[in-house]
Amino acid sequence: MLTIALSKGRILDDTLPLLAAAGIVPTENPDKSRKLIIPTTQDDVRLLIVRATDVPTYVEHGAADLGVAGKDVLLEYGGQGLYEPLDLRIARCKLMTAGAVGAPEPKGRLRVATKFVNVAKRYYAEQGRQVDIIKLYGSMELGPLVGLSDKIIDVVDTGNTLKANGLEAQELIAHISSRLIVNKASMKMQHGRVQALIDTLREAVETHHPH
Ligand code: ATP
Ligand code: PRP
Repeated sequence: MLTIALSKGRILDDTLPLLAAAGIVPTENPDKSRKLIIPTTQDDVRLLIVRATDVPTYVEHGAADLGVAGKDVLLEYGGQGLYEPLDLRIARCKLMTAGAVGAPEPKGRLRVATKFVNVAKRYYAEQGRQVDIIKLYGSMELGPLVGLSDKIIDVVDTGNTLKANGLEAQELIAHISSRLIVNKASMKMQHGRVQALIDTLREAVETHHPH
């Protein structure tokens, strides 16, 4: 059995056409189903539906052989426990700092609210900047509006969410897209199948999302 971990929403929506090109189609609609293990038209391939931030955990521990995760999630997860053989070029956005429009740089330590705590620590450490990181799980844009923080770090696509809240994007931390990730043992033990799937997906990416 090959097990592929995916999250609902944009990753699922954008990954299904790529899997379909490899002949892998879920036997029921994962967006509608309440099942967390979804069989596919290939008897020996199944999908696991997990939270976006949990995908690397399932794959690193071998509960899934493969997974699809945003580069933002992978940067935050860290670790050496995963292969990342393919950029799927889906769910593209940018990981950025943002702050209130026109707000002056604070004099003392910078307070940064984010769910990307590890990314934030690394980013400001590289700049030699002293910061207080405030961990949030969502609605980061509120931080600067209510005086919780000076800045946020979040993903930005159209910029509409920032704009709607009187914030502006400031520094670019990383360009983000979703990546295929593979468990290290699966890559060895099931090399033929896994490599064949990677090769087929690579071709599908070239067709669906050409450079
Ligand atoms: P969770 O379910 O754990 O709350 P999430 O809300 O971040 O996770 P999604 O919104 O489905 O999950 O995002 C999945 C991935 O898609 C993110 O990790 C990021 O790489 C990318 N992404 C997030 N927001 C956008 C966006 N507005 N445009 C394009 N890609 C995005
Ligand atoms: C994400 C992210 C930002 C927003 C950025 O949230 O956390 O808040 O998208 O996208 P934008 O720059 O295009 O506004 P979420 O997944 O809730 O947003 P979405 O599903 O509405 O894109």
